[in-house]
Amino acid sequence: MEKFYITTPIYYVNDKPHIGTAYTTIIADIFARWHRLLGEDVFFLTGTDEHGGKIEKSARDKNKTPLELVNENSQKYKAVWEKLNISYDKFIRTTDPLHEAAVQKFIKKVWDGGDIYKGEYEGFYCLPDERYVTENELVDGKCPDCGREVQKIKEEAYFFRLSRYKDAIIKIIENGLIIPKKNANEILSRLKGELKDLDITRKSVSWGIKFPFDESHSVYVWFDALLNYLSALDWPDGKLFNEFWPADIHLVGKDIAWFHSVIWPAMLLSAGLEPPKRVMAHGWWTVDGKKMSKSIGNVVDPVEMAEKYGADAFRYFLIREKPTWDDGDFSESALKSRINGELMSDLSNLIARVLTIAEKFSGKIEGNKELEGFIDKNKLAEFFDNCDLYSALNLVFDGIRRINKYVNDKEPWKLKDGELSNVLYNALEAIRITAIFLKPFMPSTAEKIEEKLNVKYQTIPDADFKEFTSRVHRGENLFNRLV
Ligand code: MSP
Repeated sequence: MEKFYITTPIYYVNDKPHIGTAYTTIIADIFARWHRLLGEDVFFLTGTDEHGGKIEKSARDKNKTPLELVNENSQKYKAVWEKLNISYDKFIRTTDPLHEAAVQKFIKKVWDGGDIYKGEYEGFYCLPDERYVTENELVDGKCPDCGREVQKIKEEAYFFRLSRYKDAIIKIIENGLIIPKKNANEILSRLKGELKDLDITRKSVSWGIKFPFDESHSVYVWFDALLNYLSALDWPDGKLFNEFWPADIHLVGKDIAWFHSVIWPAMLLSAGLEPPKRVMAHGWWTVDGKKMSKSIGNVVDPVEMAEKYGADAFRYFLIREKPTWDDGDFSESALKSRINGELMSDLSNLIARVLTIAEKFSGKIEGNKELEGFIDKNKLAEFFDNCDLYSALNLVFDGIRRINKYVNDKEPWKLKDGELSNVLYNALEAIRITAIFLKPFMPSTAEKIEEKLNVKYQTIPDADFKEFTSRVHRGENLFNRLV
């Protein structure tokens, strides 16, 4: 059976989930569900990143121990993923002893290969991003990524020979590691400059995994975090590792593509392991035209959105509103108009109209398959293969609009007997197939459609025009107009 391993980044637990983290996770969930529908053996991993100076500081500010903070907050992530219908197979926490042991084992391997040496780090550090910043990179003395204050550090540290892997990494990226191309090009052009070795331990941070060769140091939080993708598979000896490595897709926001496509493959090569097959970098959300931030008070709470509008409508909006790779703007008014315009008018009304007539029709439902191919299955698969969820979802909704047009043109309310049977057959089969293609994006809506049609759980091989023999039940509307 074909295997498919997809991961989200593991999230910092100094904060609760917001629209950005929800977006990354929803995209991963859509891929996982699509590959399950194809009949593949899927392993979908998410989790929380629980070490490092940022968590240590956040716990101190809240008068808690780091462990109390991470225990509380990792639960919040799990609760939100449940609300958003996220079908992960494993939730990893970096404070899990099995993960900590795997990190130490990995470091020993890299050490034995001669890729770690002791030196001194002198430079800057951005605590919110947990990343090192060189003097040249500073913009007005601040972090080039997030614009926040950096700390000056000078301390003894152990380094990973990242520079040794520069040529190999360039080759891997040129061979298509990163999707989309624009992010690949950005990273390739950064790689034209000098690639410095990476500081992988901190003496001044105590909330971290002990560095096995010198316990006065803790492991740099990113070096620790990236290894979750292996430790979750019980590397080195686990069955899961043998089955699922290398990962098919590491899903990330564009801000952390560098860590996943440069540092991570270099670490893997150093340990004699295969790099991931693909790193997919998505764009960012602003909110009402502004960068989301606690101080502006515009942080979108995904739970509030799911409770107010339903998880499926929120999921739909995030995928529909902007191309996956681009940046886009979130606003509740845009969300409402998509619900009223597309989910209500195009989808919900169509099903209500067709099922109202079909419920009353007592004859045999059969017809000529004239709507066959209303959604091009191969094209849809191609969009998924290219990680273009935006186009995939649009293709499904174009199909829904085709069914609407068909029903409007045929006017089944004026028809009888054979002619009516034919129109109902085509519309019902097309709706049944639509439910299959909606499953990755809007799992509970798809399930409701199947219930209305009275068909059993369906997968991709069922997405062809067949016989329609079940008795349908119109029931309640899927979506109602919002004011
Ligand atoms: N802990 C690291 C990842 C380690 S993975 C080995 C981290 N965590 S994070 O909590 O900051 O969340 C990261 C994810 O959320 C990234 O994929 C990031 O791009 C995404 N987003 C955070 N804010 C975002 C938006 N405003 N919009 C879209 N996604 C953004 O980084």
